[in-house]
Amino acid sequence: MEPTLEKKPIYTWTLEERVAVVKRIVNNVTPHYDLLNRLMSARRDVWWRRFTVRKVPRNATLILDVATGTGDLAIEITRSVGAEVIGVDFVEKMMTVAREKTASQGLMGKISYAAGDANCLPFRSQLFDAATIAFGIRNIPNPQTALREMARVVKPGGKVMVLEMTFPRNMRLRKFFQWYLNNIIPIVGKFISGDAGAYRYLPDSIQNFLHPDELTDLFGQVGLVSVKAYPLTLGLTYLHEGTVP
Ligand SMILES: C[S@@+](CC[C@H](N)C(=O)[O-])C[C@H]1O[C@@H](n2cnc3c(N)ncnc32)[C@H](O)[C@@H]1O
Repeated sequence: MEPTLEKKPIYTWTLEERVAVVKRIVNNVTPHYDLLNRLMSARRDVWWRRFTVRKVPRNATLILDVATGTGDLAIEITRSVGAEVIGVDFVEKMMTVAREKTASQGLMGKISYAAGDANCLPFRSQLFDAATIAFGIRNIPNPQTALREMARVVKPGGKVMVLEMTFPRNMRLRKFFQWYLNNIIPIVGKFISGDAGAYRYLPDSIQNFLHPDELTDLFGQVGLVSVKAYPLTLGLTYLHEGTVP
C-alpha cells in the first residue's frame, strides 16, 4: 500500500514507498506538468534551466540529462550548445511528451530518450562530456548513489550539474515560500491536474531535501572537485556543479 502524505510524513517513508509515490505522482501530472511548472514558478523555471545551460561546457558534444521528464533541459541544451543529448527517466509517459516536443522543434536527430533509473544508469563509464539533472535529485531517496552514477558516466574534466529547489535562508522569504508552497501550490495543482496530493508532496520533498551546503559536501563525497553552488532567485533554487577529476 502506498503511503499518503496526510497519514505519514515523508521522512518516515521507506525507499520503496517513496519511489512508488514519485512514479504515481509523475504519471498523474504528466499532461499538466509543463503548464504547472510555468505557472507555479512564474516562468522562473525556464530562466533557471537557461542559467544551467550557460554553464555547460561549450565544447561538449554528448550530454546526459538525468530525470529528463518532459525534456525541457535536454531541448534547451541542444538549442544553445548544439550538443547531442540523451535524456533518461523512469516514467515513460513523461518521455512521450519529451519526444513530441523534441520532434516539433526538429531536434530528434540530436536528442534521444531512454528508460533508466538514476541509481543505475544504463551507460558505460566516462561516456559523456557532462551530466545534468534538473528538479530530479530531490525525488531520489538516495541522492548520493545518483550523483555517484552521474560522476561515473562523465569523462575526466567533464561536469556534473544539479539544478534543484531549496528553502531560502532569509527567514521572511522562507516563511513566505513555505506558506506559498503549503497553501497556494496544492490548490492550483489540484485545480489544474486534479491531484492535490501531488502538489502536497512538492513542499515536503523540498523541505526534506539536503540543504545547499550539504549538497556541496555530497559532491565532494562522490569525488567531484572544483564544486560551485550558485543561488538563483534569492536562493529559491540552486545550481551545483562539480568537475570529474
Ligand atoms: C520534477 S520532474 C523534472 C523533469 C525535468 N528534468 C524538468 O526540468 O522539468 C522529476 C523527474 O524525475 C524523474 N525521476 C525521479 N526519480 C528518478 C529516478 N530514480 N530515475 C530516473 N528518473 C527519475 C521523474 O520520473 C520525473 O520525470
